[in-house]
Amino acid sequence: MRSFGISSKRSSVVSEIDMSILLFNGFLLLGFVVATVPDVLVLGSPGATKIMDRDSSVKKCRYGRTYSLLEARCSNLEWHEIPTYLKADIQVLDATGNRVRELTNDSLAPYKSLGFIYLGDNFIQNIEEAAFANQPYLEVLDLTQNGCDNLPKSLFQLPYLRTLYLGRNKLTDSVFKVEVTSPLRMLQLTKNKLTKIPYLGVQPSLLTLNVSDNVIVSISTEDLAPFCSLKDLDLSKNIIKFNAGGCECQTFTAWVKLRQIKMKPDDFYNCTDSPAVDEDCANVQFSNRTYELYNECSAIIQQEVETEKARSAWILVASCVSVFLFVVFVALFCVHKRNRRRRRKQKEQQQLTANNANTELLNSNLTAGNS
Ligand SMILES: *[C@@H]1O[C@H](CO)[C@@H](O)[C@H](O)[C@H]1NC(C)=O
Ligand SMILES: *[C@@H]1O[C@H](CO)[C@@H](O)[C@H](O)[C@H]1NC(C)=O
Ligand SMILES: *[C@@H]1O[C@H](CO)[C@@H](O)[C@H](O)[C@H]1NC(C)=O
Ligand SMILES: *[C@@H]1O[C@H](CO)[C@@H](O)[C@H](O)[C@H]1NC(C)=O
Repeated sequence: MRSFGISSKRSSVVSEIDMSILLFNGFLLLGFVVATVPDVLVLGSPGATKIMDRDSSVKKCRYGRTYSLLEARCSNLEWHEIPTYLKADIQVLDATGNRVRELTNDSLAPYKSLGFIYLGDNFIQNIEEAAFANQPYLEVLDLTQNGCDNLPKSLFQLPYLRTLYLGRNKLTDSVFKVEVTSPLRMLQLTKNKLTKIPYLGVQPSLLTLNVSDNVIVSISTEDLAPFCSLKDLDLSKNIIKFNAGGCECQTFTAWVKLRQIKMKPDDFYNCTDSPAVDEDCANVQFSNRTYELYNECSAIIQQEVETEKARSAWILVASCVSVFLFVVFVALFCVHKRNRRRRRKQKEQQQLTANNANTELLNSNLTAGNS
């Protein structure tokens, strides 16, 4: 009885499996038929939109090489999240124009070689703190046109991160209350909600800062002094006002001129809003704090230059020593070879003379015997 029970159970399990396989095959068949029905037939029928949806979900990433980097090209695929099944060793991920809403700690975890991530034009509102924690090689991140009002603090500590596109988001000043150790070169922050220049600490590598189309109300030399390599600054479409009657506008533009920063809008140089006459502000003084910050920044660059010089010097010395050793070695080898050849020749000569002596002896013996 018991055994019967078990076997019946087993058979029911088996039949269940059979059923599911059958069902699965049925679905496959259906899918196949639907997929192979010509579009003309389907167009206009009530199922048409459904089939088109299905087609787009079948769209796949294309892989390619960009400057020898493996790239997954996955733009406009209507993704709601970043899938985990892409090639694990991709170095470039282009997921522009999808519908990703969130980057969790796990979203990018399968991909550990990413240097370039493009996520512009998605719906990202939330990025978890460790979302980029496994991206030690990340150099460029594009989050343009999303809904971010915050960013993970660890993002600003990635060792190679140099370019950040953060335009068209909802970022506020508080996002930048972080320690920035990444070697940022370019920071695009156009169309956000900043009321001042982000305080990033001393940033010796920053070349471009775009804060156009924000709600920045004031600016001073101390905001820019920590960026001692800054070349391009875009302040257009803000609501900056300088204190009437002071020389703040003149001081600021004098600093920008002195540091040779290309600034937009360029009519800032006019300071037409400031009623103070130019003569009053002829001898502008920069604050001590401005110099302090600037010098701190320059000192880092100076130090880097010196380290690099020392490194080059050491490399030069090491190369010279190795070349010298190589020459000595080659010379010794040649001398050794020549000596050996000479010794061998000497030996051969000795042997030859000995042989000659022998043959002479033999000959003389022979002649002696003959006579
Ligand atoms: C994501 O990682 C951060 C930092 O490791 C952690 O504090 C947070 O709880 C994680 N979030 C989730 C949902 O696991
Ligand atoms: C700053 O960004 C805006 C918007 O993308 C762009 O039009 C402008 O040219 C940028 N400024 C600079 C100096 O690159
Ligand atoms: C001063 O500003 C006006 C308009 O604001 C502009 O047309 C003019 O070119 C500016 N002059 C200089 C020297 O920048
Ligand atoms: C700036 O530094 C100079 C010299 O170090 C000092 O005499 C001056 O009082 C300082 N100014 C301010 C505002 O701290």
